Amino acid sequence: MSDVKIKIKDREGVLHEVDAPTDMNMNIMELVRAYELAPEGTIGVCGGMAMCASCQCYVESDTNLPEKSDDEDAMLAEAFYVKDNSRLGCQLHINEEMEGLEIELAPES
Ligand code: FES
Repeated sequence: MSDVKIKIKDREGVLHEVDAPTDMNMNIMELVRAYELAPEGTIGVCGGMAMCASCQCYVESDTNLPEKSDDEDAMLAEAFYVKDNSRLGCQLHINEEMEGLEIELAPES
């Protein structure tokens, strides 16, 4: 079992450092839910289909992340509070290159 450390700032501004498994095919949205860093029903609304943007987060570290898919791009084009560093957490599958990743959850919209 190999974990990476990921820092997640919740919507109250509290920073959490969590262990994220790289071998469970988990994504960042699921990680936030697993650690209960956002209230149930406010994140992961579409179940990780890139169709709701409730999992939007801002990437604060210069971690090398996979490119956005067309679906992710399209959803972010319609979402609120989008910044240049916005990503959809459900589209970021946890891998070893994410060691030290820092993200902040976007406000609930
Ligand atoms: S959970 Fe809906 S877009 Fe990520």
